[in-house]
This record gives sequence, structure tokens and C-alpha cells, in this order.
Amino acid sequence: MAGGIPVIRAVGELRAQVHSWRASGDTIALIPTMGALHEGHLQLVRLARSQAKRAVVSIFVNPTQFAPHEDFERYPRDEAGDLAKLASVGCDAVWGPTRSVMYAEGFATRVVPAGAAEGLESDFRPHFFGGVATVCCKLFMQVLPDVAVFGEKDYQQLMVVTQMVRDLDLPLQIVGAPTVREADGLAMSSRNAYLTVDERRIAPTLNRVIREVATKVARGGDIGEATGAAKAALAAAGCDKIDYVEVRDAVTLKPVKPGSGRPLRVLAAVWLGKTRLIDNVGV
Ligand code: PAJ
Repeated sequence: MAGGIPVIRAVGELRAQVHSWRASGDTIALIPTMGALHEGHLQLVRLARSQAKRAVVSIFVNPTQFAPHEDFERYPRDEAGDLAKLASVGCDAVWGPTRSVMYAEGFATRVVPAGAAEGLESDFRPHFFGGVATVCCKLFMQVLPDVAVFGEKDYQQLMVVTQMVRDLDLPLQIVGAPTVREADGLAMSSRNAYLTVDERRIAPTLNRVIREVATKVARGGDIGEATGAAKAALAAAGCDKIDYVEVRDAVTLKPVKPGSGRPLRVLAAVWLGKTRLIDNVGV
């Protein structure tokens, strides 16, 4: 226990807790996280509480979704701080497995997502969605929630998890929550802590330019022209590398077919120094 919230570290103990809640007729929501919690995560917990009686937050920095050169080692970890924040939003339990509980000696099975997982993030982080889908599948089987809440901040992840649940008939509902932003539009992210003062000043440009793309496309503007102008504006603002700025089908994430009338989403990923930022908005 810490801050009154039980922290569960063993699958058997987790199942017993969830089972006792179910026996009293309570429904259960899961909010998967990697910790270093901020207001965006807390908003997911609040939404979860409106969907189910009990809210379980998982905190696990998942090694299988990081490539060897990525920031797994330096990813911010602050369990005491996380528990203090969760105490204020009505979290019933934290599921905090160790690495060896999640990936026991000899672990060898993986979920291989395609469809919504193709392109965008996968072009730059090819290992990423396999790691996310595998750990989310395990989290769903460990907690057996009625609902799991994910942020639109990681929009492709939300679509990949939604597709996995549908494709594999996993018995839960996925709920998406709007992105929580700083006052200047920057999407809240645990990785924002890496930004230098100068980079933090430039960072809100990402949201500004993708909103401009959304406005132009909504008015019937040319997608290639709009994303080209966005890339030029990001480079001019001082972004060190632009991984992508794309307009895609909001559900399948496939390239847009002109005149299809489908809902669209603008998605982007850029680098400021050593920090990679992603963001997206609806058209
Ligand atoms: P993490 O980056 O900690 O994010 C946990 C959840 O919080 C995700 O659903 C993410 O979309 C949501 N989130 C993050 N920032 C947000 C913001 N500003 N507004 C709204 N929601 C936000 O995403 C992961 O962890 C991992 O990939 C995980 C799903 C836990 C699997 O390891």
C-alpha cells in the first residue's frame, strides 16, 4: 500500500482482487500506462471511472516496445509520485508487475499486429506495435477488465489495440479519450521532460501546424500541398527531423482515397534534438 492505493505485483493476487470485485457486482476498467504520470493519464482514469465501478492502472515500462537504441533505460520512472497523483482521481489498484513477472524465463509468444499497425510509426519504429500489442494482450488477460481506456494522443496505438480486440475476440471494450494539452497546445507526454528550454519553446509548433493541415483539408485543400507546407513550417521552426506528416483514413489509417467521404486524421512525428514528439488531430 502507498497513498492508500494497493500496489499488486503478482498475477494471482491481481486475479483474486478482480474476482472479489466481480463477486460484489462491480465492473472493472483498466488504464495501461508506463508511469511518469501526468494530467493526460489522470484524465483517462477519470473517464474510466465514468465507465466502470473499479479502475485499475497498470504501470509497466515495457521493454519489448523499445528498440535497443531507444530510451528504455532513461525513460522517467517515479512510482511514489505516480501513486500520489492516482490517489486524487479514484484509482482502486495499481498493477505493477516486475519484468520477470511480465516476461518469465523462456517467454516466446508474440502478437503480430498488421492493418492499422502498418506505416506511420511502424516505418520508423518497426518493433513498436508488436511490443505494444503483446503487452496489452497480456494486460487484458491478467486483469480481465470490462473496459480499457487509451488516449487519442497515441492515435495509431488506439487503432491497433481496437483492431486486435476485434480480430482476436478479446472480451472487453476499448474506449478512446481526447488528448490533454498544455495551455500552448503541446500534447502532454512523459517524454516532454526531456526537452531543453529552447526545444520546449518550439514544441507547440507541431500542434499548430497539424491543426492548419486539418483546416485546409476540411476546406477541400490539396493534401500534398497542406502536408508539404506543414513540413516546411516545422523545419523553419527548428525541428531537427520530420519523420512524417500525413493525412489518413481515421479508422483504417490507410492513405486517403479522394472523394471517399471517410473521416480523416492528421498524424505527425518530429524530432527536437534527442526527443521524438508525436501528435494528431481530427479533420
Ligand atoms: P504511456 O505513454 O504511459 O501512455 C499511457 C496511456 O496514456 C496511453 O493510452 C496514452 O495514449 C495516454 N496518454 C498519454 N498522453 C496523453 C495525453 N496527453 N492525453 C490523453 N492521453 C494520453 O502508451 C503507452 O504508455 C504504452 O504504449 C502502453 C499502452 C502502456 C503499453 O505499454
